Amino acid sequence: MMFFTPLKWEKDKLVILDQTLLPLKEKYLEIRDIETLFEAIVKLRIRGAPLLGIAGAFGVYLGIKDFRGDKEKLLKKMEETINYLAQSRPTAVNLFWGMERVRKKIMGNLHLHVEELKEIALKEAQTIEEDIRTSQKIGEYGSEIILQEDSVLTHCNAGGLATSGYGTALAVLFKAHEKGKKLVVYVDETRPLLQGARLTTWELQKAGIETYLICDNMAGVVMKEGKVKKVIIGADRVASNGDTANKIGSYSLAILAHYHSIPFYIACPVSTIDFSIKEGKDIPIEERSPEEILTIKGERIAPHNTKVYNPAFDVVPYHLITAFITEKGLVYPPFEKNLHKLIE
Ligand code: MRU
Repeated sequence: MMFFTPLKWEKDKLVILDQTLLPLKEKYLEIRDIETLFEAIVKLRIRGAPLLGIAGAFGVYLGIKDFRGDKEKLLKKMEETINYLAQSRPTAVNLFWGMERVRKKIMGNLHLHVEELKEIALKEAQTIEEDIRTSQKIGEYGSEIILQEDSVLTHCNAGGLATSGYGTALAVLFKAHEKGKKLVVYVDETRPLLQGARLTTWELQKAGIETYLICDNMAGVVMKEGKVKKVIIGADRVASNGDTANKIGSYSLAILAHYHSIPFYIACPVSTIDFSIKEGKDIPIEERSPEEILTIKGERIAPHNTKVYNPAFDVVPYHLITAFITEKGLVYPPFEKNLHKLIE
């Protein structure tokens, strides 16, 4: 069930749905070089951890596709491309994972000619793009925890727009809905960039799921009123101990859910788990422009000289997480041990 394609490769270019314009405009942009890709990532025209993984993989190919010269120089060009794109957004590990997959493919096939190496780089990126089974499996496993009648709160956008399939947290909801379960979903608007209001409600409505949009500061009251039975969100990077970075506000939600004894789930592909990082404090957190908070649609909403702190993500400590929903099944505590089993 896909009503849109957030990113696809067409002949010699990437075509992306500009997510900054949704839900008012569905406009596709063509990306032919890494500078345009960099801008699209920084501005959140493409966003969401798994989609950034795919963008990163195609980015490596974009960086080398017009290269002419010997193999050594090709490898140099590849490294430059990776280093450049790595500066775009630091938190979602998938961006680095996607680029690394293509790098590994090239490094493992150095007996090939330059043109052949470029070709396998493109093929590797396409393989990642086509892997919508990951989302479907997350949806399938996750839908088992959804009751015949259930209500879920979600944050930011972890839907089809954030992946090449039909999402992570939203995949669970889509699948449960397809199975005929009666769902009510509360969606945090997700200030400052409103991914919940603009993107998640758009996706859920297209799927025909009953949806209520709330301001971020209403989550506590809907929990207290018993309107929410579960929280399911996505992830940008999970440390080996289960600490999880996700959109700013996830931490507060986890504390609220804990206080109200509401289970709190993280839906993510295994590629979002960064086993090289021990705990959440080591996850780099992106800080974004003050303008995102100081203005709404270009209109200033705070006095001049207002100081701003604008972290784009926060970290949910592992002990506030009930389980991870992955394409390999549900993972319960102890996370340190059980997450590791996913890659054994
Ligand atoms: O800043 P964004 O919009 O890229 O943040 C996205 C999120 O925080 C998502 O919840 C996360 O990437 C998971 S997407 C399946």
